[in-house]
Amino acid sequence: MITLLACVALVAGVQDTALSVIPRPVHLTRGRGTFVLTARTAIVTDRATRDIGYQLADWIRPATGYRLAVGAAPEAGAEAISIRIDPTLARLGDEGYGLSVTPARIAIRAFRPAGAFYAVETLRQLLPPDIFRAAPVAGVSWVVPAVEIEDWPRFSWRGAHLDVSRSFMPKEFVKKYIDLLALHKLNRFHWHLTDDQGWRIEIKKYPLLTSIGGWRRQSLVGVQRAYRDTTQWVYDNIPHGGFYTQDDVREIVAYAQARFITVVPEIEMPGHAQAAIAAYPWLGNTGQQLEVLTHWGVDANILNPSDSAIHFMQDVLTEVLALFPSHWIHTGGDEAVKDQWKTSPLAQTRIRELGLRDENHLQSWMTARMSEWLAAHGRALIGWDEILEGGTEGLAPNAVVMSWRGIDGGVAAAQAGHDVVMTPTSNTYFDYYQSQDAAREPLAIGGFLPLETVYGYEPIPPALDSLQARHVLGTQGQIWTEYQRTPKNVEFMVFPRLVALAEVAWTPREQKNLADFSTRLSKHLSRLDVLDVTYRRPAGGP
Ligand code: ACM
Repeated sequence: MITLLACVALVAGVQDTALSVIPRPVHLTRGRGTFVLTARTAIVTDRATRDIGYQLADWIRPATGYRLAVGAAPEAGAEAISIRIDPTLARLGDEGYGLSVTPARIAIRAFRPAGAFYAVETLRQLLPPDIFRAAPVAGVSWVVPAVEIEDWPRFSWRGAHLDVSRSFMPKEFVKKYIDLLALHKLNRFHWHLTDDQGWRIEIKKYPLLTSIGGWRRQSLVGVQRAYRDTTQWVYDNIPHGGFYTQDDVREIVAYAQARFITVVPEIEMPGHAQAAIAAYPWLGNTGQQLEVLTHWGVDANILNPSDSAIHFMQDVLTEVLALFPSHWIHTGGDEAVKDQWKTSPLAQTRIRELGLRDENHLQSWMTARMSEWLAAHGRALIGWDEILEGGTEGLAPNAVVMSWRGIDGGVAAAQAGHDVVMTPTSNTYFDYYQSQDAAREPLAIGGFLPLETVYGYEPIPPALDSLQARHVLGTQGQIWTEYQRTPKNVEFMVFPRLVALAEVAWTPREQKNLADFSTRLSKHLSRLDVLDVTYRRPAGGP
């Protein structure tokens, strides 16, 4: 039976959706016949692609039961999957690849290993969905349709964020999340490690950050809509916490690196820092002993702007830099309410002595200190768009802006010559509801962001000219976890919206087609089923 969506796709003249590769490759032509994977298929690599060959063999073994040989040359008579670096393919870029499947062989060629890795991810999607099973599946014919693919990404920043402060996520889930990013050819994992409600990364020099800052007494449950009427708030009376040791972090960074994903850590400052202030009260403005925050929202307790608080954060970042090879280090910067600075003698003296206009400029001055410190250490600061509020003077030229309150921050930053990552709430906030019938959805913070709106997103703001548009590195999906308390809650909010955003970030704008995507998605969901990914069924689907 042909589905309505398939009819629409055929009428639209789009490419063969039976292949259901997501994100959609740039060029894909169907050939004749199929390549049949058998226990005698050999994986042939060169030195630079050897690990990718082993990775492919590891991925093929559980479901097929085949232990494919990986080597420099196939055994005589064996059909081969070759994975090679090809210096003539510079035109495909560092992440592009060619994938040629004929009945006789599979040939992967790429300019760099990342491209070869993405070819392997495409190959997995060309195999039956059962290839993702973790034990042998009987009765499946492991065929790959003959196809010629040339493919490369539109954007270099294809990201997904995860808030582990509001709800701590176990290390094993973080790895699963990274696997899912890689499956969709995403290459940045933005790890939101610190916030008011919990500090989640071990810092050897300041152990109280995790022993105190990693735990909160209880959490607000249910709807916090009656913000003003705090007597209506309901708490669970259950302590919540956890943190990643530096060994855990190294494990996750290595896991991501093997999947060509850069882990971008976020250490929030000066706002969203109450867990740190609870651990070290002298970091705050009032001297008061605070507790790690137990409800959600924007909090008045922010770091003080003293040299010692700045040095404290630079000490933290020193350990962060040793753990994360990422060029970009996220220092937050969002929602830092300035009420405490307005009444703080220390902050006011600082503003006067530095000749600053106001408290927003004081935050900019702090951000500039961090950005020049990071630049001096060979890294680049990335921050939410509030880092622009006190002007961009002093911000290191390599600082990057994440535009979340709409697109204006991204436009302003790109026009000022800074790179930007487009993360507007309107299209990339996966903590928003997926249906307008919120009563029938898992509790969320609010908002409405349907799958189609994610898919329809165009990351280049129209106000940018072509030179400015080059500063748009790409886009990324956000998942804040105030109400997403478990990995399964997170998966439900993220999928399939992240699948749609992956195509926004990878596929050329002219080739996006919602009907074609929907058809491919219906098959892709069977892969997510096998991978035990909880997702929201698209509207109109089965
Ligand atoms: C944010 O959503 N506060 C960046």
